[in-house]
Amino acid sequence: MPTPIVLDCDPGHDDAIALLLALASPEVEVVGVTTTYGNQTLEKTTANALRVLELAGRSDIPVAAGADRPFRRELVVAAHVHGESGLDGPVLPPPRTSSVAEDAVAFLARAARERGPLTLVPVGPLTNLARLLGEHGTEGIERVVLMGGAIGEGNITPAAEFNVWCDPEAAQRVFSSGLDVTMVGLDVTHEALLGPAEEKRLRAVGRIGTFVAELNVFFSEYHRRTYGWDGAPIHDAVAVAHLVRPGLVETQFRNVEVEVDSELNRGRTVVDRWNRTGREPNAHVAVALDRDAFFDLLVERIASLG
Ligand code: RIB
Ligand code: CA
Repeated sequence: MPTPIVLDCDPGHDDAIALLLALASPEVEVVGVTTTYGNQTLEKTTANALRVLELAGRSDIPVAAGADRPFRRELVVAAHVHGESGLDGPVLPPPRTSSVAEDAVAFLARAARERGPLTLVPVGPLTNLARLLGEHGTEGIERVVLMGGAIGEGNITPAAEFNVWCDPEAAQRVFSSGLDVTMVGLDVTHEALLGPAEEKRLRAVGRIGTFVAELNVFFSEYHRRTYGWDGAPIHDAVAVAHLVRPGLVETQFRNVEVEVDSELNRGRTVVDRWNRTGREPNAHVAVALDRDAFFDLLVERIASLG
């Protein structure tokens, strides 16, 4: 039986690729998509989620819009990375469909009751999930596999990764929830660099593969300017791949705490990698990725979408 999941996302180029990978993978059933501010405003990320589902012919999957800003932090979007639309690059018509009337938290609570036990896959700021936990508890949630955080350096500040930095209070609530949490951070997602060779493989497998390659051409621009890389790390797709193909990502059960007081280190995920602090482990932290197997899976599954 496929694992029922909800992808909580802020499309976003890598979110879009993660969604397509999930749609193409029989190991999971996408029972819904919830959206959040992050890479762009909520309005734009919601429109982008609808556009990608339409592209894949999966407008049967409901999209529920969620948080338009963090709990108490200022709203910051990543237009410098994902562009004005949040999905700049390939031509994609505006959505013909709409999100459902229910907001993301109400949708998640209902899905947890009706389709649980659910696996939640948050790949944007964690405001929606934190609100769900605060208002409905953990009932019906089996597991959380999130893209966010970093053992090492950040990417929005030297100290912090963007998703956690946006709403550190929300992230701390998730890590302290007692849920089965997996943290797929920059340490392994920076290994998932989609470059010209992978773009060529994707263009050869059809319409959706070409779309993913085109997304990556734009997504690579920021990473070339910033890091000198010839490609882009498709962060969010690694979280989905971990669910679809256990073994691709190696994890270690460690304690993770989020810095919420310091401005300098706001949103830093302090990972007790070598068990120095005596603090109880609370997350399975990704420490290694089988890059070749990851891209073989991605190309194989994207090919199946035609
Ligand atoms: O830091 C990388 C994360 O921030 C990814 O989820 C990307 O989509 C952005 O949301
Ligand atoms: Ca994202």
